[in-house]
Amino acid sequence: MAFAVVTGAAGFLGSHLVDRLLRAGYQVLGIDNFVTGNPNNLAHLEREPQFDLLAQDVSEFLDIPGKVDQIFHLASPASPVDYLNLPIQTLKAGALGTYRALGLAKAKGASFLLASTSEIYGDPLVHPQKEEYWGNVNPIGPRGVYDEAKRFAEALTMAYHRHHGVKTHIVRIFNTYGPRMRLHDGRVVPAFIGQALEGKPLTIFGDGSQTRSFCYCADLIEGIFLLSQSPSADPVNIGNPTELSILEFARLICRLAAIPERLEHKPLPVDDPKQRRPDISRAGKELGWLPRVDLETGLRETIEWFRTHRPDARKEEAAKPSHPEATERSSS
Ligand SMILES: NC(=O)c1ccc[n+]([C@@H]2O[C@H](COP(=O)([O-])OP(=O)(O)OC[C@H]3O[C@@H](n4cnc5c(N)ncnc54)[C@H](O)[C@@H]3O)[C@@H](O)[C@H]2O)c1
Repeated sequence: MAFAVVTGAAGFLGSHLVDRLLRAGYQVLGIDNFVTGNPNNLAHLEREPQFDLLAQDVSEFLDIPGKVDQIFHLASPASPVDYLNLPIQTLKAGALGTYRALGLAKAKGASFLLASTSEIYGDPLVHPQKEEYWGNVNPIGPRGVYDEAKRFAEALTMAYHRHHGVKTHIVRIFNTYGPRMRLHDGRVVPAFIGQALEGKPLTIFGDGSQTRSFCYCADLIEGIFLLSQSPSADPVNIGNPTELSILEFARLICRLAAIPERLEHKPLPVDDPKQRRPDISRAGKELGWLPRVDLETGLRETIEWFRTHRPDARKEEAAKPSHPEATERSSS
């Protein structure tokens, strides 16, 4: 039986990936320090014999007894609220955490998959973004802690691949949404849904003409799974290319949540990208992957999940963002 390690297992995407690997027959060890994740995301696996959870910071020395076949490195604060409040931890997770996880892959002869991000393209000057595009990132802006940590993580992954012959994969994840997101994690989908369900006006940064594309989590996880089974070492974009403006998106949420349309405008945050859309032709060609869940279907599922989990989500209200830039905003 194949043995997989998933760092960041208690997070939004990590927990869905654990579920997918268990369904595929893997034995899985999750590692998490719960800095932004929630063990409740894995509560349904409490009695699952094929799953174990280790509470550990991946930036620290990392060793696991026995064989390991595949390592999926997802551990990192990922939302703007989180990485602006946790700038040093974010840099450490991307740099030291990736170094530790790659070291483990090398020692065990395991393959390694890095969860990278569309943020490595920064505020892109090329549209849509192909993997060949090198990006337009401000290294010293507030978002640089996340973008540059991921860029370093990609460079380190390629160095282990070229220099040590480790079998590696890099997935560049574009905005993904779905059940198990935190209501106040600063990403636009839970922000809008939370405001809609609480009867508050939806906050639009700027005039709302900036565009985003949103991928449902089940589609994203399938892309990651297929990539992990493929020979591809080059970065692969996984996301949904259906692009819409933040204004259109806010209106769609109001319609699906069946509430009257109430919007308020606030100034655009620093370095907020104006356009984001993946070119997914490489994922199609190399993995045979295409997103299957349309936005309305995915949003209905997500709104329903937030409706039934709002008592949990409310507890998060106590943890208000402390960084002045760390407000709910239009991208992740
Ligand atoms: N969700 C998205 O739209 C998106 C987009 C691009 C990239 N990503 C990447 O996917 C990965 C998962 O993102 P997510 O949305 O699930 O975020 P998340 O915050 O829900 O999950 C991240 C998990 O990593 C854990 N973690 C953070 N630092 C750690 C450390 N030093 N040691 C151990 N655990 C640590 C957190 O506690 C959390 O459980 C991240 O690497 C993120 O950069 C996500």
